[in-house]
Amino acid sequence: MSALTVLVTGGLGFVGSNVVRLLRAERPDWRVVVLDALTYAGHRSTLGDLSEGSGLRVVIGDIADAPAMEALFAEERPRAVLNLAAESHVDRSIEAPAAFVRTNAQGVQVLLDAARRHEVATFVQISTDEVYGALGPDDPRFTETSPLRPSSPYSASKTSGDLLALAWNHTYGMDVRVTRCTNNLGPYQFPEKLIPVAIAAAMDGRPIPVYGSGKQVRDWIHVDDHARALLAVLEKGRPGRVYNVGADGERQNLDIVHAILDQLGCPDDQLSHVSDRLGHDWRYGIDATRLRQETGWTPRWTPEAALRATVQWYVDHQPWWRDVVRRSHSS
Ligand SMILES: NC(=O)c1ccc[n+]([C@@H]2O[C@H](COP(=O)([O-])OP(=O)(O)OC[C@H]3O[C@@H](n4cnc5c(N)ncnc54)[C@H](O)[C@@H]3O)[C@@H](O)[C@H]2O)c1
Repeated sequence: MSALTVLVTGGLGFVGSNVVRLLRAERPDWRVVVLDALTYAGHRSTLGDLSEGSGLRVVIGDIADAPAMEALFAEERPRAVLNLAAESHVDRSIEAPAAFVRTNAQGVQVLLDAARRHEVATFVQISTDEVYGALGPDDPRFTETSPLRPSSPYSASKTSGDLLALAWNHTYGMDVRVTRCTNNLGPYQFPEKLIPVAIAAAMDGRPIPVYGSGKQVRDWIHVDDHARALLAVLEKGRPGRVYNVGADGERQNLDIVHAILDQLGCPDDQLSHVSDRLGHDWRYGIDATRLRQETGWTPRWTPEAALRATVQWYVDHQPWWRDVVRRSHSS
C-alpha cells in the first residue's frame, strides 16, 4: 500500500496506542491521525514518546458525534480507518451499559457513514472474540463461522458494531474488514483489567482480586502481535471478511496470577478470591488459521515471554501507571 492517511480511533487507549507506535515505526511515510475522546481509559501519555508533526496528529473527539466526524473526514480525507475507539471493560458495562451502546454501536454507525460519504478505501472494525460468547472446557475453539452469542452488555454492544460494519459491506459495497481478537497483554494497559491490576496490587503489597475459582480460561496475545495482525488485515486482507486474531495462548487466570506473583517474588497468599462476575464467561479460545493463511501473519510472542515482558514493563514504568490511576480517581 502506498503512502496514505490512516485514521486510528481510540489511539490514546491500550491497543490503539500500540497500533499507532507500530505504524509510526514500520510505515513512517503514512500520516496517522488519532481520534480519541479521552475517556478515563484514554491518556495522552500513552503516546508521550511520539511527537506530533507532519506524520502524526492527535484530535480529541467522540466517534458518535456525527457533525464532528463529518468535519474531521472532510479535513483529513483518510484512505483507511482502524476503529479501536470503544468502551472496553465488562464490569463497567454491567454497572452502566448506556455508554457502551452509544460508543460501540452508534459510534460505529456514525464512523461508517462518514467513511462512506468520504470514500474511505478500507475500514477495519476492531471487534473481539467475546462476540462468540463462552466455550466449555472441551469445545473446539471459535472459528469465524461460529455462532455469535455475546453474553455481557460489553460483548453485545461490540457485536452490534461488528454486524453493522459487515452490513455496510453487504449493503453499500464498502471495503470493510472485521477482526475478532483474544485478550491482549502488554504495555500501556490501564490498570483495571486482570494483568495490570494484579501486577499493580502485587507491587504494592495489596491483595490481588481473582474472580471466583480463578479457573476461567482466557486466550492471551501480546498487544504487538495484535497490532501487527491489524496491519496485515489492512494491507493483505479481503473486503467483507472476518479475521480471528489469536496466538494459541489459552491459560487459566489463576496460572497467570501465580506467574506474576512468582516473577515479583510475592507470596501466593496475596491472592484473594472474590465473588464471581455476573454471567462470567468460562473460556475463550480462538482459531486464527484464516488470518495466518490469507495474510501470512504469525505471532512473535509466546504467552510466557509476553507475560514476563509485561510484568517488567510495569515495574519499569511506574510513573505512567500510577499517574493514570491517580488521574482517573480525581476525574
Ligand atoms: N484489550 C483487549 O484485550 C482487546 C481484545 C480484543 C479486542 N479489543 C478491542 O480493541 C479496541 C481497543 O481496546 P482497548 O483495550 O485498547 O480499550 P481501552 O479502553 O484501553 O481504549 C479505548 C480508547 O477509546 C477511547 N474512546 C472511548 N470512547 C470513545 C468515543 N466515543 N470516541 C472516541 N474515542 C473513544 C478511550 O478514550 C480510549 O482511549 C476495542 O474495540 C476492544 O473491543 C481489545
